[in-house]
Amino acid sequence: MTTVILGGAGRTGSRILDRLTAAAHPVRPASRRSGFDWDDPSTWRGALRGATAAYVCFTPDLALPGVPETMGTLGRLAATEGVERLVLLSGRGEEGARASETALRGGSVPRTVLRCSWFQQNFSEHFLTGPVRRGRLRLPAPDVPEAFVDLDDVVDAAVVALTRAVPEDATYELSGPELLTFAQAAALISGVSGRTVTFEAVDVPSFVRDLAVDGVPAEEAEPLAHLFMDILDGRNASLADGIERLLGRPASPFRTYARRAAASGAWS
Ligand SMILES: NC(=O)c1ccc[n+]([C@@H]2O[C@H](COP(=O)([O-])OP(=O)(O)OC[C@H]3O[C@@H](n4cnc5c(N)ncnc54)[C@H](OP(=O)(O)O)[C@@H]3O)[C@@H](O)[C@H]2O)c1
Repeated sequence: MTTVILGGAGRTGSRILDRLTAAAHPVRPASRRSGFDWDDPSTWRGALRGATAAYVCFTPDLALPGVPETMGTLGRLAATEGVERLVLLSGRGEEGARASETALRGGSVPRTVLRCSWFQQNFSEHFLTGPVRRGRLRLPAPDVPEAFVDLDDVVDAAVVALTRAVPEDATYELSGPELLTFAQAAALISGVSGRTVTFEAVDVPSFVRDLAVDGVPAEEAEPLAHLFMDILDGRNASLADGIERLLGRPASPFRTYARRAAASGAWS
């Protein structure tokens, strides 16, 4: 009953690993540091061997060209290796990711898709940490409402999907419990962190220059910018019920996350 975590060293994967380990559930991480590489299919069989369940966290993004083929190959290999369920991390409103979601089903292994809103933790554990610390949240998008979801809720939902008695072939949309624009999120962070943070819409080159300050290379920043220009057009300005349906409790609000992040020194 071993679960393999593809992307096990990342933000969601490492948390899932901790949760399953704490519950004495056999689990192992797989990423480049353990010899599994999305760019080298010859490493995939070894990563899946002996696993009955797999969490699939593809980076950088399911919507990129060529990823549906990658997911199709993985889904078929999972079937031949005896994997009984797959849980795929995906993005809400990402039309380009739908082909990857479908392709993963190619081997007929039941797969649960978790389509997530923007993670709250993008502001403290990812590419928005530096901009928040500098007090200038600059994005290549208008100030649209987003239903930021707590990464810990996403992880709890993934653990349910990975361990429930019967695997489910289903798709869930996961969001937080409220809609906030980026300016409102910045104001909430200002309120709990004691530093003034403002939002500003900028063009792609400015966004790429900002990320370069934090060490993100242009080849990573540019696709991110274009993805944001796509999905941050208001299409995700609605609440979803996936957290409640999977966890039987409400999703955690942005303010709770922001207080926790401030107390942990994320923006100090
Ligand atoms: N951020 C958001 O708001 C948001 C919202 C919805 C969906 N998503 C989706 O969430 C996913 C990212 O999840 P995350 O934040 O948990 O991931 P993450 O923190 O970026 O980590 C992913 C892990 O994958 C491993 N990795 C990177 N390249 C690899 C490769 N070529 N082969 C094998 N492993 C590789 C890395 O470990 P090694 O260095 O050891 O390889 C890394 O630790 C993306 O698919 C994104 O589209 C994100």
